Amino acid sequence: MRHKLAVLASLALAACASPAAPVAAGDSQTSEGRFLVDVHCAECHAIGRNGRSKHPDAPALRTLSQNYPISALEESLAEGIVVGHPDMPEFRFRPEDVAAIISYLENIQDR
Ligand code: HEC
Repeated sequence: MRHKLAVLASLALAACASPAAPVAAGDSQTSEGRFLVDVHCAECHAIGRNGRSKHPDAPALRTLSQNYPISALEESLAEGIVVGHPDMPEFRFRPEDVAAIISYLENIQDR
């Protein structure tokens, strides 16, 4: 029983070490960003390099840089992002989380 748990735990760790998106190997900030975006944004936005947003009005996050530089989001993420849409909750992230999210978003932009 104990052994089985250990095996499961190591499988879970291995899964974390290889995120689905093509994130630069060893860039832990980017993978932390992917994790945060997955938890907080994926419910509405497409968060990968492919795929559709679950919310019909929410743009795929990989297209954001078509409208403005990703760095412009930094302030919004830290101070509470408000895009004037009632469906989107207000967020306030810690500075290190903002940096991680920005890094991930930069990584997936279509361009
Ligand atoms: C509950 C659904 C929902 C969640 C969760 C959500 N969003 Fe959104 N988001 C939307 C919708 C809907 C829009 C479109 C708003 C509009 O066009 O008026 C939007 C728009 C945006 C925009 C503006 C896009 C543009 O081109 O102007 C950004 C940036 C954004 N979201 C980022 C995020 C980030 C980052 C997260 C996670 C931290 C997130 N959103 C989580 C629903 C959501």
